[in-house]
Amino acid sequence: MEDEVIVSKRRASGTEKVSSIDGETVESEMEQSMEYTEEFIEEEHVPHEEPVGLDLEDLEGVGRVTAQKLRQAGYASVKDVAYASSHELATVLGSEERALSIIRAAQRLISLGKLFMTAKEYYEERKNVAYISTGVRALDDLLEGGIETRAITELIGEFGAGKTQLCHQLAVMVQLPRDRGGLNGRALYVDTEGTFRPERVVSMARYRGLDPEKTLENIIYARAYNSDHQMLLIDEAKHLIEEEGVKIILVDSLITHFRAEYPGRENLAARQQKLNKHIMQLAKIAAIYDAAVVVTNQVLAAPDVFFGNPLKPAGGNIVAHGCTYRLWLRKGKEGKRIARIIDSPKHAEKESVFTISDEGVLDV
Ligand code: GTP
Ligand code: MG
Repeated sequence: MEDEVIVSKRRASGTEKVSSIDGETVESEMEQSMEYTEEFIEEEHVPHEEPVGLDLEDLEGVGRVTAQKLRQAGYASVKDVAYASSHELATVLGSEERALSIIRAAQRLISLGKLFMTAKEYYEERKNVAYISTGVRALDDLLEGGIETRAITELIGEFGAGKTQLCHQLAVMVQLPRDRGGLNGRALYVDTEGTFRPERVVSMARYRGLDPEKTLENIIYARAYNSDHQMLLIDEAKHLIEEEGVKIILVDSLITHFRAEYPGRENLAARQQKLNKHIMQLAKIAAIYDAAVVVTNQVLAAPDVFFGNPLKPAGGNIVAHGCTYRLWLRKGKEGKRIARIIDSPKHAEKESVFTISDEGVLDV
């Protein structure tokens, strides 16, 4: 295929090579070389059931004052503490040693003293993973069920590819009952580019037989004005998620602010480090609160590409390894759109075609 993206990757050694005919920007080359030193986000198994009614005060070694401190620092629940790193918690508790003992206490409490499980138990536990239909059968088939909870799905594509439209549609689809592909849940929409359009939601809701007013009520919206603001919103989101029944978090787009605020080679390491933190925030929320996270990402032209497609997703290895599934959207002939999953150990290398109409994102 002429415009096929050829991405060869050796994750273990941390090297990445994208081959293509031409294309010239300096940035992606720099990104690659800089990011080899970054640590990759490890996919981790996280048990998710927390016995109801647990307070921070229930933790061994945590009294009222410490609990207060933890809450002020954003650790609202036993879960938050259980999945914190001792290094970050030490800034609240004074020492890493104390942080570690409290983290262990939290982990014991939520997994009821169980640190290991059999593969069979893990298999059973994975059955709680749920899927949100995209509203497009071809895309659901490609994704083997739809957008997965406890995972980050990245929508990659050039301008007009349909990333924002798909985000709008997912904010609607998640609200449907389970037998129609939804999770009876609400959506949290973080808009970094100011492209969210409630009118579009209204059209999509009508098409799906939902009450447009109620559908809008079920989308919690925030405009992120810079990268710090964006990270603050995600930090705050965890309170909303449990209280408001949010099942999907949409970030459109993931890295626009980061790229704008940290331009050039001299800022690249700082940018990637911060971006890594942001993605870890999202990964943690997805895992702890059983929600789906969807982020959008732009494409850049790679300079070191000799055949195939010179385009590659922005954000380098930090984003590539931080996101669980990567769906690449591109424009085809006659207004059609083509989707392909890249870098997946689980999905087949195939493509799906869809279209964007007044009713939303649809099958052809
Ligand atoms: P960038 O954010 O610019 O990178 O692009 P994107 O991938 O987010 O593109 P987006 O999802 O905004 O898709 C834009 C395309 O959707 C337009 O080019 C239109 O083809 C289509 N579109 C958007 N709104 C409507 C609509 O109300 N009716 C129809 N028929 N098509 C629409
Ligand atoms: Mg967009």
